[in-house]
Amino acid sequence: MQKNSEDIAILAIESSCDETAAAVVVNGRDVRSNVISSQIDLHTLYGGVVPEIASRKHIEKINQVIAEAMQEAEAGWEELDAIAVTYGPGLVGALLVGVAEAKAISYARKLPLIGVHHIEGHISANYIENKELKPPFLCLVVSGGHTHLVNVADYGKYEILGRTRDDAAGEAFDKVARAIGLGYPGGPKIERVSKIGNPHAVEFPRPKVADDAYDFSFSGLKSAVLNYINGCNMKNIPVVQEDVAASFQKAVIDVLVGNAMHAAGQYHATKFAIAGGVASNGTLREAMKQACEERNIAFYHPSPILCTDNAAMIGAAAYYDYKAGIRSGWDLNAVPNLKLGER
Ligand code: KG4
Ligand code: ZN
Repeated sequence: MQKNSEDIAILAIESSCDETAAAVVVNGRDVRSNVISSQIDLHTLYGGVVPEIASRKHIEKINQVIAEAMQEAEAGWEELDAIAVTYGPGLVGALLVGVAEAKAISYARKLPLIGVHHIEGHISANYIENKELKPPFLCLVVSGGHTHLVNVADYGKYEILGRTRDDAAGEAFDKVARAIGLGYPGGPKIERVSKIGNPHAVEFPRPKVADDAYDFSFSGLKSAVLNYINGCNMKNIPVVQEDVAASFQKAVIDVLVGNAMHAAGQYHATKFAIAGGVASNGTLREAMKQACEERNIAFYHPSPILCTDNAAMIGAAAYYDYKAGIRSGWDLNAVPNLKLGER
């Protein structure tokens, strides 16, 4: 592997949900390999992620994924400076596979161990392709389990301005997709059919949380879609899948962009980033880009492959932890509900 003596090379591991992933990242931004083994096909059979199956599959795949990541990066073990791993939040059994693996490698190869917060990873995905991006900036994190509006004050320093009170944005996409017969995973499928649908066909609500301008709530919107479908069925009116999908998607995006820009105004943001699986949605990216342009705010987003779960983002986050002297002990454990900014 090409590496100068001052370069920091990190092998990162991610197994918090249904992707087994490993990557080699140099200096937090230079991705030498990014291997992702997705279990989507397996979970599609059940309409969602089955935790026990996810854990078993991670165990089967993890060694192979790490070997591929090392090979693709042409990295030798002696060239690595640290091992990083997602230790929360996520599915406990799934997380444990990555954590146990990382500890074993760290012990055997005498390499420092760094436990990384999954959401910190998603945010840090923005550093990989935007070499000039540095904190402070605001970031909208929209994934299957989280919807957070975050002030990234510095590397590793996060202030949560708003969060969802109920369903995460990705969860709403997945549930609505199931209700209109699109199946799992919902986000990409809703995006695809929305392209031929009319976003103004159905006026779904734009839910607002009365006592907090930055918080989100998506369960009411999901219920509105279910009520609309039931109403159509009772009246024998056909449900036009693509119109419902496009109208729902527009409602979610209006709320996300609305809250994001409200925060941008209040915090006089000059830089705004998005992250997480839902951030791979082209319509959301376009809406955010336009809203930022109108306000003279620089807009950042990772490539779609770096938005959904991957290990390169964990390697990016771990680099700044490494530089800050953060190391995990042998007692590192999976923490399924780990809070952002906690250790
Ligand atoms: O970040 P991620 O891969 O995993 C979590 O940390 O949760 O996010 C997965 C979520 C799923 O809910 C999926 O439906 C959603 O991201 N998603 C999308 C798109 N691609 C993935 N949602 C909307 N549009 C997409 N293109
Ligand atoms: Zn994720």
